[in-house]
Amino acid sequence: MSGPASVLAPDADVEYDPFSYEIDRDPYPVYRWMRDHAPAYRNERLDFWALTRFEDNLAAFLDPAKYSSTWGTSLEFMDGPKDNMGLMIYMDAPRHTRYRKLVSKVFTPGRVATLEPMIRATAVRHLDALVGQPRFDAVREFTARLPMDVISTMLGIPEADRAEVQRKANLMLHREPGNPRPVPEAIEASLELLRYWSEQIEERRRRPKDDLMTKLVEVEIAGDDGTPQRLTDDEIRAFFILLATAGNETVTKLLATAFHELAKNPDQRRILVEEPRWIANAVEETLRYDPPSQYQGRVTTRPVEWHGQRLPERARVLLINGASGRDERRFPDPDRFDVRRTIDLQLGFGYGRHICLGASLARLESRIGIEEFLRRWPEYHVPPEGIERMHSSNVRGFAGLVVEAA
Ligand code: HEM
Repeated sequence: MSGPASVLAPDADVEYDPFSYEIDRDPYPVYRWMRDHAPAYRNERLDFWALTRFEDNLAAFLDPAKYSSTWGTSLEFMDGPKDNMGLMIYMDAPRHTRYRKLVSKVFTPGRVATLEPMIRATAVRHLDALVGQPRFDAVREFTARLPMDVISTMLGIPEADRAEVQRKANLMLHREPGNPRPVPEAIEASLELLRYWSEQIEERRRRPKDDLMTKLVEVEIAGDDGTPQRLTDDEIRAFFILLATAGNETVTKLLATAFHELAKNPDQRRILVEEPRWIANAVEETLRYDPPSQYQGRVTTRPVEWHGQRLPERARVLLINGASGRDERRFPDPDRFDVRRTIDLQLGFGYGRHICLGASLARLESRIGIEEFLRRWPEYHVPPEGIERMHSSNVRGFAGLVVEAA
């Protein structure tokens, strides 16, 4: 049922505003207009530029000397340097390289593959609890739980603490409508979480365990002057925050988007039910077709030129991989959701130096999630009133998705 995105006229009055609810509903016609008529798009009102074509974004991802991550990667946040936050996603080389080396060993495809039995057991536990129910919210009951449980197990958060940690993490993000500032309960929850992490770090120093938290406590990293140093508590907490935020929202959204597309396209669902070997490719197709992370923000370190336009130094540029996945210059019939499509280069995880550290883990969790889901519900419906979109400037996907067993 997926069809071509509607085509906007070359002279249409188009504004790409990543905060607009209209864009959340369907950004793809606007992306197409940008690729065709404004490949170096400028938004004066919100003061940013955007690249949308596949080849352009690939080139920019591969040129981090010109496109810095140090101002953050989400537009609402890109008002100045963020490198004192200790999050490697907001660092440039050489600092980024040192931090990334530290955790990259844990996330290699080989190491991640050993997690398959744990991931499958987690998926099976959550899904078996839903079998027999006529309808359930696939996000709240499954896709949000799987990645949270997996990263908690890797970090070593005791099982008895997880529900409370998740409750506090959700509370910390809670905002009242029309008010972007945290409510007192949100501030209290974040202070309690900080205290919790500090106790856990202290506990690992006293009694090391075989978990990622202990590794981060024990590891030594070359400081700015080259001498080996342990990470400070603040730096360790920053890692937890990055792993928990980067890995949870995104896998949650990718799985729910896949379930939604497979409900809309029963022919594609049937292919996966009959030939599950295509499921890994369906994960890639979902990442191309409707990725959870729509753009990566960068700041130019020097003037650059795109399509005859000069972007000055310190320009905020959004590399919209969500638009690149639909670029007809790269993918034939790009608005068709096709689980057997050949995708030889994926920008859904970004590319180059900051390419998603958790990509192998995300691919594995997503494949297992779809396999186990379709094994139990080879046929299902998603009623239109059961679809609840989340609103964010660069994370795209569902806050809730009701599934009705057929
Ligand atoms: C479908 C799921 C996921 C998607 C779509 C996704 C997407 C991305 C993207 C686009 C980037 C690049 C950011 C940039 O260039 O500025 C990124 C970076 C990152 N991701 Fe993921 N991610 C996913 C899952 C995960 C998981 C499961 C983890 C770990 C538990 C993770 C950890 C990270 C980290 C640590 C970075 C920063 C890497 C760096 O700065 O070098 N991600 N991710």
